[in-house]
Amino acid sequence: MSLLITNIAELTTQDLDQRVLHRAAIVLDGERIAWLGPARDAPAADAMFDAGNRAALPGWVDSHTHLVFAGDRSAEFEARMAGQPYQAGGIAETVRATREADDDELRRLLAARIAEAVAGGTTCLETKTGYGLDVGQEARSARLAAEQVDQVTFLGAHLVPVDMDPDEYVDLVCGPMLRAVRDRVQWLDVFCEQGAFSPEQSRRVLQAGKAAGLGLRVHGNQLGPGAGVQLAVEFGAASVDHVNYLDDRDVKALVGSWSGWDAATGTGRPGTVATCLPACDLSTRQPFPPARQLLDAGVPLALASNCNPGTSYTSSMGFCVATAVLQMGLSVMEAVRAATYGGALALGLDTGQDQDGLRAVGSLQVGHRADLQLLAAPSAAHLAYRPGMPLTSAVWRRGEQVI
Ligand code: NIG
Repeated sequence: MSLLITNIAELTTQDLDQRVLHRAAIVLDGERIAWLGPARDAPAADAMFDAGNRAALPGWVDSHTHLVFAGDRSAEFEARMAGQPYQAGGIAETVRATREADDDELRRLLAARIAEAVAGGTTCLETKTGYGLDVGQEARSARLAAEQVDQVTFLGAHLVPVDMDPDEYVDLVCGPMLRAVRDRVQWLDVFCEQGAFSPEQSRRVLQAGKAAGLGLRVHGNQLGPGAGVQLAVEFGAASVDHVNYLDDRDVKALVGSWSGWDAATGTGRPGTVATCLPACDLSTRQPFPPARQLLDAGVPLALASNCNPGTSYTSSMGFCVATAVLQMGLSVMEAVRAATYGGALALGLDTGQDQDGLRAVGSLQVGHRADLQLLAAPSAAHLAYRPGMPLTSAVWRRGEQVI
């Protein structure tokens, strides 16, 4: 079954040439994109959708979320807004509530959060474990996440449980816990930060993930300067996330990681994407990352929601894009690129095919997954021009209209 979506005022492709087409059309054939170009040249299809002169762009690729959790931490948020600092220890409260929830409750909560994300234009989601913190609970989080999201990350190294010796806990993460989740996850992540995991402990966790054949990601340089970025680059992590406190060495390391990559053709050995989480920065009152400096230096950026109950309880990628434009010095197209192609790059989903032949997301190109959104606006600029407005008009995921 093919679908022609025509009468598109502005079609932002985020392909390698970053083409923006006007008076455009796109044809979806089953789960993939079959054609795109000027509306006047569009081929016939089984069905037609009139976009009514609205703007179309790739669905958001949210490459950093923590959606498997129960409980509420609004009191912690309120106290923070009244002057308390954010401390990693708040994670323990969510661990307690998550352990108490049964599978069906966690499934329901996860599905509701995904539905909210999709309603805002997100069509590809990564989520992490990390609110279980024992072997059985982490394995359960990985299993439930794998039922519902595109990519799952093992974050057993999120916080050392209060009743455990830190080094014994790292042994557990690197051994039995990793073995228990291995078949359900694509990635391993570690929270390398004071109050969470030290550089040496983080190194052990990353070594174990690498030995298990998982892709690597790092939470780094969120609450202060630290070793996160350096470790991420040293281990060839696909992404280092937060990146609020960077020094020149960190920026240099990130730039150097992309030396084997040809951005013009999207080929070669990808480096470490810097993933910025602006909603989290607002909600923790941290300085924004030096996104402009990183982009100007040639480091690919991703923008992600970091939806979680502690530091960023929103999955609105439109809000992240608006904040990146209004507060972080990115142009609209740079922010949209980071929230689509950048997310795909951070997840290794920018190109290639999986067993279904449908791996590539984050840009509108023939053969890619038919994931796109239509805005209730004539151009993508409205995302930042009208911040906070409900601009998602229609969403297709794998060719199916879901909004
Ligand atoms: O990405 N930094 C570590 N993890 C989350 C926060 C988790 C929480 O506070 O519950 C983050 O911000």
